[in-house]
Amino acid sequence: MSQYLSFDKITKNNDGLVYLRTADENFAAIGYKEHGLRHAQLTANIAGNVLKFLEYSSAEVEMARIAGYLHDVGNAMGQNDHAQNGAIIALDILEKLKAPYDEIFPIISAIGSHEDKDMAPPTAVAAAVILGDKTDVNHTRVRTPDLAVLDTHARVNYACQRAFLRVNKDTMTISLELTIDTAICPVIEYFEIFLSRTKFCRKASRALGCEFVLYINKDKFL
Ligand SMILES: [Fe+2]
Ligand SMILES: [Fe+2]
Repeated sequence: MSQYLSFDKITKNNDGLVYLRTADENFAAIGYKEHGLRHAQLTANIAGNVLKFLEYSSAEVEMARIAGYLHDVGNAMGQNDHAQNGAIIALDILEKLKAPYDEIFPIISAIGSHEDKDMAPPTAVAAAVILGDKTDVNHTRVRTPDLAVLDTHARVNYACQRAFLRVNKDTMTISLELTIDTAICPVIEYFEIFLSRTKFCRKASRALGCEFVLYINKDKFL
């Protein structure tokens, strides 16, 4: 199957970049964690790799990368409803590129559903984007690393020194390996803040026929 859209074509297009930069500048102004190019590219890489390692088609891998890259463009309009706004923005970007709708729809449905924590992801592409997005916990995302002013959400990110998502096709497991500095944040705080996203990762993994596994400092929690 020939494919019109490519990850390269999207990252070279200036529109997506402007939305991501605007969103990140707005969040930086209020001290909210990084949501710019780094988060977009990391989500794209992880989403693409999840489907690649599970041997999905190259077309689905490419759509997962594109949707991962664009998933948070809606934050340029504000965080509320950013998934739905982002889907509309991505529709506009992709239509301007004259992409065919059979390639547009899997991308915008993944973007529009990436915060629907109470629902199962509608497609493999959507599941992969959720896994890329929700496993990005990292100290580099915190703008002001001052423990005296960080709220719990920022403190959990600040305490996370390493996050790695391992996909194993033989065992059909998707494992998130976190290294958390417990002097900054006890493990219980990770669950206080991230329980819903952990359950969402489990839902996304199951949509791909896999079990979600969580390790924190080499201890297995799931
Ligand atoms: Fe988001
Ligand atoms: Fe995100």
